[in-house]
Amino acid sequence: MKILAIETSCDETAICMLEAEGDERSARFRVLGNALISQIDIHQQYGGVFPALAKREHAKNLVPLLRAALEEAELLREDIRALPEGLPGTLGELLSREYELAEQLLSFLSESEIPDIDAIAVTHGPGLEPALWVGVNFAKALALAWDKPLIGVNHMEGHLLSSLVTEDGTDLLIDEIELPLLGLLISGGHTELVSMEPWLRYRLIGQTRDDAVGEAFDKVARMLGLPYPGGPEVSRLAERDREDERSNPFKLPRPMISDPHCDFSFSGLKTAVMYLIKQHGELSGIEREQMARAFEDAAADVLWKKTARAIDETDAKTLTLGGGVSANTHIRRHFKTQIEKEYPHVTLHLPKPAFTTDNAVMIGIAGYYRALRKDFMEPDVMIANGNLSLV
Ligand code: KG4
Ligand code: ZN
Repeated sequence: MKILAIETSCDETAICMLEAEGDERSARFRVLGNALISQIDIHQQYGGVFPALAKREHAKNLVPLLRAALEEAELLREDIRALPEGLPGTLGELLSREYELAEQLLSFLSESEIPDIDAIAVTHGPGLEPALWVGVNFAKALALAWDKPLIGVNHMEGHLLSSLVTEDGTDLLIDEIELPLLGLLISGGHTELVSMEPWLRYRLIGQTRDDAVGEAFDKVARMLGLPYPGGPEVSRLAERDREDERSNPFKLPRPMISDPHCDFSFSGLKTAVMYLIKQHGELSGIEREQMARAFEDAAADVLWKKTARAIDETDAKTLTLGGGVSANTHIRRHFKTQIEKEYPHVTLHLPKPAFTTDNAVMIGIAGYYRALRKDFMEPDVMIANGNLSLV
């Protein structure tokens, strides 16, 4: 099955062509074409993602990315094609708020043959709603114009399932995964522990009661005068401190770490950093590294302890990390060490670095699992939902 996948939930516009085969217990994927434009440079000057700008950039990027992904997959056939009658009207309505995109899309559709694909998958939540709508409207328009089934993908399911991937040459495999599976989903908007058993049936085991861990990384980065997105910058400073093996003068709390539940709280940790900086006055270069490390240590400790509790509660056989924060070197190392030490019978899957940031391959992978269940949606009922939940 060939799936065209589209992702526009935040600040990456991405389209991929994925070929997939197999079933839930053993699926194989091949990326035929993959095109992505990151908006990080554009949002950096605002210190965070600026939704109106994200929406505009997605609208600008989608058609060129579609062309690039199809071209790479050798599925682009230039041809002058008469569009189905009434189509421009339908697209005009769908894309009424995106004149430029509608225009670009109509001209693309009239210059190319319908590609040999089986379905179109698109992120319909969670994320920034104005950004999500651009991708959703675009996917609906394509589904109508090409008469292809449409699949709405939950972005977090994309993170979770793509984290299970192992590589076999250039193919991607999801194979021999023992359930129950526990997923720790950590990103700029999410911090949650979900259990999966059977496939695609989720139970929420714990979640943040205030800030997401990625948000805390970003806010601490700002306090340390680091650019957006802050996670990788904080990590870079903290790693430098670890290399020097200095003792750390900064002590930070581990909120809720011993409480008898699997929920998190990161807002107190962030505030503790703020007070320490206030108390201390301006930080030297070394002190900034020490503060970054103290924060990262505290965040990793809490994430691990709550995950360990959730493994006990759910009897998980597989643990996986997903979302932007799962790129963090220290968190990855800490989880690896602790799993080997405390839960050697649990298999840990860490996402490939390319799958920690938002991309369309993860949407194609989750889209395939949904397609296997014939989880298709009529274009006229699909909406973008910024708060779409997995459970
Ligand atoms: O999944 P993602 O790309 O977007 C959302 O869906 O939110 O996650 C972005 C978040 C940001 O908060 C970013 O600072 C954080 O992931 N992040 C990291 C690292 N790389 C990205 N946090 C800690 N360490 C990293 N290396
Ligand atoms: Zn994400």
